Amino acid sequence: MTDTPPIVAFDKVSKTYDEKSWIVDNLSLDIRAGEFLTLLGPSGSGKTTTLMMLAGFETPDHGRILMDGRDIVPLAPHKRDMGVVFQSYALFPHMSVDENIEFPLVARGVAAGERRRRVAEALDLVQLGALGGRRPGQLSGGQQQRIALARALVYRPRLVLMDEPLGALDKALRLHMQTEIKQLHQQLGLTFVYVTHDQDEALTMSDRIAIFHQGKIAQLGGPEELYNRPRDVFVAGFLGQTNLLTGRYDGVDDQCSVIRLADGTALRAQRPEEGAFTLGQTVNAAIRPERIRLAPAGAAGPAADGAVLAGPVTSCVFHGDHLTLHVDILGRDVVAKINPGETGALPVPGEIVRLLLPSRVTLALA
Ligand SMILES: Nc1ncnc2c1ncn2[C@@H]1O[C@H](COP(=O)(O)OP(=O)(O)OP(=O)(O)O)[C@@H](O)[C@H]1O
Ligand SMILES: [Mg+2]
Repeated sequence: MTDTPPIVAFDKVSKTYDEKSWIVDNLSLDIRAGEFLTLLGPSGSGKTTTLMMLAGFETPDHGRILMDGRDIVPLAPHKRDMGVVFQSYALFPHMSVDENIEFPLVARGVAAGERRRRVAEALDLVQLGALGGRRPGQLSGGQQQRIALARALVYRPRLVLMDEPLGALDKALRLHMQTEIKQLHQQLGLTFVYVTHDQDEALTMSDRIAIFHQGKIAQLGGPEELYNRPRDVFVAGFLGQTNLLTGRYDGVDDQCSVIRLADGTALRAQRPEEGAFTLGQTVNAAIRPERIRLAPAGAAGPAADGAVLAGPVTSCVFHGDHLTLHVDILGRDVVAKINPGETGALPVPGEIVRLLLPSRVTLALA
């Protein structure tokens, strides 16, 4: 898939609303045909603005947006071959469900018979075949959102753009709709660009995730790559929970980078690109809570294991399938997700525990 030309390419796109700050800052991004790409980032990081420029409702101040190699910036939204779903459903309240879905087809001059056939097909796609005669006000939030989805898909656009489409739904319905949207994506083979600030949603649904931070992409990659190899502290902290231990870069040993903590403990990380860090530079070791275990009593573990760090427990919460343990390590609050089977009695606050770190940590910029 990497070799196919992108369906859309943002080429150094910038946008300001006030002539003072860049809301989208020199953004370059390739969208691959058929992929499920998620824009993920904190509130105000420029996700919606990026999607709006792609849909044609906002205009970049600099740069080009290429679709099949052609700049679409001058093109009106309805000429861009994109279906759009936003958080607020924006269904027409005075029209029936059928009429709502039919609307884009009428606007495109599709003949009546063909329109009826396609509306029925789109309703089936979102499994609401029986509700075509109702008005939006007579539907639940999840049903309305599915109608909005049907309306975006009915003219079979090449790109489907969704901005927090599930934000207004309760958790159970959101999980259900996530599965449905993902299935639709697989079934239809269309390209989806999906905006969310829910990291779980991004991890479970996406082929690739672009992490937005202050109008720029902090990192772009597959869920597994971003989760396990975050480039910097922002990405590590934004995608899942992570512990950061600050230390100094202590060079390369046996194909690994060494991070030296304040107490002299050496942590090992995958070797970075040549020259990425300088000796003595302040860096962070990023460690996921679920990769920390309780060290077996007695001597340090076998050489292949990671470092052992001891500290007092500040809290211990039982969640059924795991324990969340907070431990003060070198003045940092370190969180560990522990399998209850690993420990007999639950650790109590004040008790000194020994944490076994993974043999490889992630080296991240401070
Ligand atoms: N029409 C506008 N006029 C002026 N400022 C705007 C406009 N739209 C967005 N902004 C500002 O641009 C910044 C980025 O907004 P944007 O909506 O792109 O963020 P977002 O990443 O989608 O955030 P959220 O997760 O909260 O939806 C914000 O600071 C916002 O206040
Ligand atoms: Mg937004």
